[in-house]
Amino acid sequence: MIALVTGGNRGIGREVCRGLAERGHTVLLTARSLEAATAAAEEIGGDVVPVRLDVTSERDVVDAAALVTERHGHLDVLVNNAAITYDTWQGAASADLEVVRAAAETNLYGPWRLVQELLPLLRESAHPRIVNVSSEAASLTNMGGGTPAYGTTKVALNALTRMLAAELRNDGVLVNAICPGWVATDMGGPGGRPVAEGAAGILWAATLPDDGPTGGFFRDGRPLPW
Ligand SMILES: NC(=O)c1ccc[n+]([C@@H]2O[C@H](COP(=O)([O-])OP(=O)(O)OC[C@H]3O[C@@H](n4cnc5c(N)ncnc54)[C@H](OP(=O)(O)O)[C@@H]3O)[C@@H](O)[C@H]2O)c1
Repeated sequence: MIALVTGGNRGIGREVCRGLAERGHTVLLTARSLEAATAAAEEIGGDVVPVRLDVTSERDVVDAAALVTERHGHLDVLVNNAAITYDTWQGAASADLEVVRAAAETNLYGPWRLVQELLPLLRESAHPRIVNVSSEAASLTNMGGGTPAYGTTKVALNALTRMLAAELRNDGVLVNAICPGWVATDMGGPGGRPVAEGAAGILWAATLPDDGPTGGFFRDGRPLPW
């Protein structure tokens, strides 16, 4: 199985790469710095290939798709993990819209572009899976104020998840949004749970059986309210 993970150099993304490698996948560990991708791939070991990929760069995404085409001819798993701007310092009423726009480039348009470019390769897979790493902060059911760039871009990512799942259902592509919970990473800060626990629900979605769910929002394999 061939998997591509964005933001694989640290945090939850690196742990997802480790978990997929342990399950016998060939993992394209992508990061916006090739140096960082290489260091993480070496630390994990196994069949983990470092690839430079900034999700906001159309050129990088096209190049990554070309590399997968050339080396493997198909892709089984895409994990859209990279994200930025947990903006606890601002509220929607006075948010800096340039900050929101920049967050959308990484958190929404990045995953969207990757799906579009990699879809022909996913369609060549017998068991294609797309995992969009989201957050409970995107749940409209309990939404209050705060973290406007992060929240709105993850809500949009959830909407994209629903649309893709519906459009790709007949092709057998399972598409789900996964919240890892509060995890102790650079983004999550101290006090969250260990990265392995956050990664587990993502690995679950990346390795679902063919009759598994699609178009869902989950944490730890259990549904979350949209
Ligand atoms: N930690 C939590 O408590 C928590 C809770 C809910 C959801 N999540 C979600 O879980 C995912 C992983 O979060 P994390 O806690 O592991 O975050 P993190 O420690 O801040 O790591 C973020 C990763 O994204 C990468 N990245 C940022 N911009 C990128 C770009 N333009 N192109 C490619 N990679 C880029 C970073 O690369 P660089 O090293 O180059 O910056 C880094 O590898 C995110 O989607 C996040 O929203 C996290």
